[in-house]
Amino acid sequence: MDASSVQQTELKPSLGLFDATAISIGAIIGAGIFIVTGIAAGLAGSALVVSMLIAAVIALLTALSIAELTAWQPLEGSIYEYAYRLISPFAGFLAGWIWVLSNTFAGAAVSLGFAYYLAALAPVLPTNLIAAIVCLGFTTLNFIGIRQSAFTNNILVAAKLLILVFFIVTGFCFIRVENFSRFEPFKAGVLYGAFYIFFAYGGFARVAVVAEEVRNARKNVPRAILLSLVISTLVYILVGTVAVGLAGASGLSSSKSPLTDAISVTGSTAAVYIVSAGGLVATASVLLTSILGVSRMVYAMARRRDLPQAMSKLHARFGTPYYSIWIIGVLMTVLALFIDLSRIIAISTFALLFYYALANMSALRLRIEKRLYPSVIPVLGLATCLILMVFIPLEAWIMGSAGLAAGVAFHWMKRRFST
Ligand code: ALA
Repeated sequence: MDASSVQQTELKPSLGLFDATAISIGAIIGAGIFIVTGIAAGLAGSALVVSMLIAAVIALLTALSIAELTAWQPLEGSIYEYAYRLISPFAGFLAGWIWVLSNTFAGAAVSLGFAYYLAALAPVLPTNLIAAIVCLGFTTLNFIGIRQSAFTNNILVAAKLLILVFFIVTGFCFIRVENFSRFEPFKAGVLYGAFYIFFAYGGFARVAVVAEEVRNARKNVPRAILLSLVISTLVYILVGTVAVGLAGASGLSSSKSPLTDAISVTGSTAAVYIVSAGGLVATASVLLTSILGVSRMVYAMARRRDLPQAMSKLHARFGTPYYSIWIIGVLMTVLALFIDLSRIIAISTFALLFYYALANMSALRLRIEKRLYPSVIPVLGLATCLILMVFIPLEAWIMGSAGLAAGVAFHWMKRRFST
């Protein structure tokens, strides 16, 4: 038989620890730090960094639960599979559905973030159009294959980390201490800020979604999750401190590209260009891993017939789940054309918190001898995710719940009409 006519049915483990960590950092550092910092600073004031710390602790608790689950059994699809096996098939379906929702919206939002930073440098095309073009470009890259995607991602991750370090070092000497004068860590705005900036931490478990493509996944995936979160938290705390020190919370909150505006206080045009380039690189790498992760989740759901089976087909030449990649890519492109950034971030974060709540519930269902950590970790993880949901704007609650209801209806119809 002609080899090219044989459909590949298994994903190949081709990623090492470095690639795995880079996939999660690729997914984490993006529009959150480069754009949402402004929204969060508007709410938390000069105590922005306290919001960042609160969000980091909540993310860490959930990260430990997901690391524990992956160490038990690395499965493509992550919480979708764990909730399915440990809670119920319906809980698994909901986890997959809400994750796809969260990341499809996040991908579109991030592509818009890319467009904002590009527009700040060269305002040639409407921002929504740029965002749509970028979505299609990265969909094509994902279609060609995970090795090529991982390679591109590693370069983007190195670049964005270097540029953020440049921001910290260059900006540090220009910090004005009076920008911290009204430091109020206990006001409610700090918690609202934590909700928004939580978006910036989303993605730490992205590598768990592609666990079957990682070598020695039982060890490498948990390590990659925790490493990526620790590195990102350190970078965020430093960037947040320097950004407030440079521009002040009100300066950040009134900007669509807050880190560029903050670094402009140094008076260096070169620094402005470099940081703007960082915004482009960071959002591009989040977009790349969003399409990667969402398409793999859809693949895992279709493999179990929770979504139409065609979505689990792998391309004969590239070995990628091409139907899922193109459907998700086109959906993101359409959203990018009609999106409102802060709304979409709130909806995406609502969905993400719901997904993380299910992750912690799954970890609680692990048999005691399979646990790495005491039960208090998933209990706190679950409680903190639910508490943070209190700070979600009503509109995002309504739209996020509508997305969930659509999933429930789809699931019901599938059961009702499938033989
Ligand atoms: N954490 C991702 C970002 O900040 C979604 O862009």
